[in-house]
Amino acid sequence: MEPYRVKVVEPIPILTRAEREAAMARAGYNPFNLRADEITIDLLSDSGTGALSAAQQAGGALGDETYAGSSSWFRFRGVVDELTGYPHIFPVHQGRAAERILFNALLKPGQLCVSNTHFDTTRANVLLAGGTPLDLPCAAAADLDSDHPFKGDIDLDALRAVLAGPESVGVVVMTITNNGGGGQPVSMANLAAVRDLCREHGVPFFLDAARFAENAWLVVQREPGWSDKTPAEVARAAFDLADGAVASLKKDAIAHIGGFLALRDPELAAQCELVLIATEGFRTYGGLAGRDLEMLAQGLTEVVDPRYLAARAAATRYLGDLIKAAGVSIVEPAGIHALYLNAGRLLTHIPPAQYPGHALATELYLAGGIRCAELGTLYLGEEDENGDLVKAAPYELVRLAIPRRVYTQSHLEYVAEVVAEIAKSPEKVPGYRMVSAPPLLRHFNCRVEPVRS
Ligand code: F0G
Repeated sequence: MEPYRVKVVEPIPILTRAEREAAMARAGYNPFNLRADEITIDLLSDSGTGALSAAQQAGGALGDETYAGSSSWFRFRGVVDELTGYPHIFPVHQGRAAERILFNALLKPGQLCVSNTHFDTTRANVLLAGGTPLDLPCAAAADLDSDHPFKGDIDLDALRAVLAGPESVGVVVMTITNNGGGGQPVSMANLAAVRDLCREHGVPFFLDAARFAENAWLVVQREPGWSDKTPAEVARAAFDLADGAVASLKKDAIAHIGGFLALRDPELAAQCELVLIATEGFRTYGGLAGRDLEMLAQGLTEVVDPRYLAARAAATRYLGDLIKAAGVSIVEPAGIHALYLNAGRLLTHIPPAQYPGHALATELYLAGGIRCAELGTLYLGEEDENGDLVKAAPYELVRLAIPRRVYTQSHLEYVAEVVAEIAKSPEKVPGYRMVSAPPLLRHFNCRVEPVRS
């Protein structure tokens, strides 16, 4: 059970099927174009969507908006320092700002950035800094059904080979948990081995620590030798292994905005600080208000509470069990921040060129007002100049991201009921065809339409 009760509530819109059909048609069948007042349960993202605690709200009221040297900054720095142990800490407005500043300071043109899996913005920032992103997920990650406990690990043999190879590696970034790879955790053993390899080759090793507490919880639950440690101790041990971290604090600080870049190397820190001041804000606020820094500091202390993490992990697992009981496969084993539905296996009558993942995500909205997004051929596929599919995505997945402290067990049961209703007659779900798409990041802006046979 959740170790908190509800103090403030917000009504959720409940539309008729006809209203949802009209909303989706207006949105060009793209969930990113829906309006909040058209959505019943929003599982688009767990980023910036969490519910604040009373203590965070109170912290917000105490926020010190002094331009330089605000007391809220010192509280924030104290908490991040205790959590990570890194001597140089820079606040930023969100994770991708930390990525931009770090990669521009660290990567020389043409250098590789190697990761278990880059998140979209991380990949984009590597490319914008002139680097080349390379994903080396472990072999177990390719089997969606395997219940291997640490499918977020990097492939150590492949990493060893790249580090010893002819190409220059500028940095290794481990994403914990691995959002692009099904929300799977990374083991401490894997992080320690990455640290050793990076040391051997003199390559900096950073964490993308957006979900550091959830990763720590899964280590406590699943990795031999860690079960008697607290999530905060595990998180600290992970930060200890790396040379620094970038973090979006919109996830595991349970706040609406914020991030940090933290590191050990004083020279690199000095370089980053210049860019921080030029592009984000002075080093004691980095684009955040004093009230944000207070809420982040408080959220970072709440998120490592084992009772909170246990309840959140149990809620996601419960939803996963209900969905599986309805006959729909998920990426196994269930992680914490999201469930990934295997749409390709459910909608076998829809070819990749008609976007089965997108079809399921759209149907979840039409059938029940649930908003979510696909991770499949609409996002990752490649088409030729005639619009014909030349490369499908490896899997057709739909991510149900679970906001923190927002939805109750009966909301999750409702989600499972809608999934089960669709799974009773999946052949009724239509495929989609592209109507218009921008050249880049098309999943955010494209318009599609149903293919009616
Ligand atoms: N790294 C990871 C692993 C992420 O999941 C995200 C954001 C970022 C970096 C970027 O952080 O949004 O604060 O700039 N993920 C969100 C999501 C958007 O829905 O998964 P940001």
